[in-house]
Amino acid sequence: MVNIILFGPPGSGKGTQAKKLVEKYNLLHISTGDLFRYEMGNNTPLGKEAKSYIDKGELVPDSVTVGMLRNKVEANPDVAGYIFDGFPRTIPQSEALDELLAEKDQEVHRLLMLDVPDDEIVQRILERGKTSGRKDDLNETIIRNRIEVYKNETTPVYDFYQEQGKSVTINGVGSIEEIFDRLCQEIGQLAQT
Ligand code: C5P
Ligand code: MG
Repeated sequence: MVNIILFGPPGSGKGTQAKKLVEKYNLLHISTGDLFRYEMGNNTPLGKEAKSYIDKGELVPDSVTVGMLRNKVEANPDVAGYIFDGFPRTIPQSEALDELLAEKDQEVHRLLMLDVPDDEIVQRILERGKTSGRKDDLNETIIRNRIEVYKNETTPVYDFYQEQGKSVTINGVGSIEEIFDRLCQEIGQLAQT
């Protein structure tokens, strides 16, 4: 198996690249943001709880997010590997992911961080907001809050996997194809070993 964390600030292209990577490497794409939006769309209890955080650009509590992620992984055991997109976003989520994979004699192989400057991120998300239907993409104050939350709560995840020798920074500025090629160079090496 090849298990990848696609990491980076909001609007760095994780979802776009994950969709291309699953086609090439036949992996399962798990986006916790997409899972929350699905629950919100169906107005489930989980969706309602998540919405109260997401609309403000805050993080949903770890126990909720980890439980949802665990269900998704356990419902899909026979895959060639996972691409985790938007998860883990905190150190407790990282510890929970490592435990969950260890139960399956698995591990995270790489954390690939898409590096994009703040101003470009804000522009990209405002552009996406014109069509995404996402309330958290519409307002610059909420977008800047998401970037702050990323810096304060999520960047420690990079260091957590760096200590395991697994974190790699990828230049996230350029065309979709250029960035895809950079990611494939990293993943291609893993697939061979
Ligand atoms: O990953 P994405 O940017 O789609 O996530 C959208 C929102 O979902 C985040 O801003 C956050 O409010 C919530 N989320 C979370 N914890 C995660 C993933 C997403 O709280 N692990
Ligand atoms: Mg996304």
